[in-house]
Amino acid sequence: MFDTDTNRNSVFAKFEKLAERMSAVSAVGRSPFGMRFDDMLSPTRARIGNEEILLAGTNNYLGLTYAPECTTAAKAAIDAHGTATTGSRLANGTYSDHLDLEEALKAYFGVASAIVCTTGYQANLAALSTLAGRGDHLLIDADSHACIYDACRLSDAETIRFRHNSPEDLAKRLSRLPDTGARLVVIEGLYSMLGDVAPVAEFLKVAHAHGAMLFVDEAHSVGCYGDHGRGVAQAQGVLDQVDFISGTFSKSFASIGGFIVSRHPALELIRLVSRPYLFTASGSPANVAAARAALGVIARDDQLGKRLWARANQLHAGLIAAGFQPASPPGPIIAIERPDDQTAVAEWNKLMDAGIYVNLAVPPATPQAKSLLRLSVSAAHTEADIDRILAAFRSL
Ligand SMILES: Cc1ncc(COP(=O)(O)O)c(C=O)c1O
Repeated sequence: MFDTDTNRNSVFAKFEKLAERMSAVSAVGRSPFGMRFDDMLSPTRARIGNEEILLAGTNNYLGLTYAPECTTAAKAAIDAHGTATTGSRLANGTYSDHLDLEEALKAYFGVASAIVCTTGYQANLAALSTLAGRGDHLLIDADSHACIYDACRLSDAETIRFRHNSPEDLAKRLSRLPDTGARLVVIEGLYSMLGDVAPVAEFLKVAHAHGAMLFVDEAHSVGCYGDHGRGVAQAQGVLDQVDFISGTFSKSFASIGGFIVSRHPALELIRLVSRPYLFTASGSPANVAAARAALGVIARDDQLGKRLWARANQLHAGLIAAGFQPASPPGPIIAIERPDDQTAVAEWNKLMDAGIYVNLAVPPATPQAKSLLRLSVSAAHTEADIDRILAAFRSL
């Protein structure tokens, strides 16, 4: 597919194996990586060429990307404030809309401080790389998202991985640490690949018992779990004790952007020193307005969440009835492990031929090098949509 330069001094030489793997995957049928959608028709439908595809692999959990509240707010923001802020939050890039969104997040989570960043990726980089500095200890779940790993690289703190979803292993590692330096434990509410939920309340107990603070990335869980989508920490009754929560507007909030919230007012201080917050342009008026409108819908109306769960339960039960074994209990992310890459790629193509798009997830993007067909459910899916997805899986 690509001519990688065989000269071993070429910057591309290291990608030779990757190029071979990509060619092998694409040779089976369509290329699953960076696929082109010619037209988006709704939260659950896209057109590719002449085919209409049913989308079962987006993170559009609440289906709000076409909600009139969000589209109207985004259009009005462009008319009022233009297409971009052209500056950092610290310079000319803080509009009243960014501050209103931060106030709304504070009220929604019942916290003392909230910071809106340009993406969720940057929110994690901004918070973790700054909160944990030289001499400190960052303890992260082994299955953490790439941006948490990248945040650790950007931080001067020592990074320690603990076993996935194991408060016991965390306790062991915390008890071995020297007395010096701050301790920050990082977990996710809902893991994006296998769809498993963290025992946040147990992690919190262990972290606080060992003098550590707890940071929960609720990128996938906010909007889906807890009262009016306040996330897994809220669902497990510990929202008021968790030290930091980060999240994204790119999934349930139908926009682009990210946030960090905290019960500690001192979180505000990182605005002055956090490079991923300072040295990048702020979120565009349309993105901020869409996220604010989505937050308004989620805080006001819990029908979308209920619909999402009804569809998630339907899909999960149907997959089991069809002989598949989902990696986790019912939830907005349902992953089916396949024996190897080749099987996963072949089945992904068959699903596309049946007009169903799911995510193909293969190593190194997956935990324990699993090959996965990853489905995500949306409140915008109908019962008939789920039946169609199930029929396609039965025919594999
Ligand atoms: C767990 C987790 N955190 C953070 C992010 C980053 O979010 P964003 O798309 O807003 O950069 C993602 C994105 O997929 C994610 O899965």
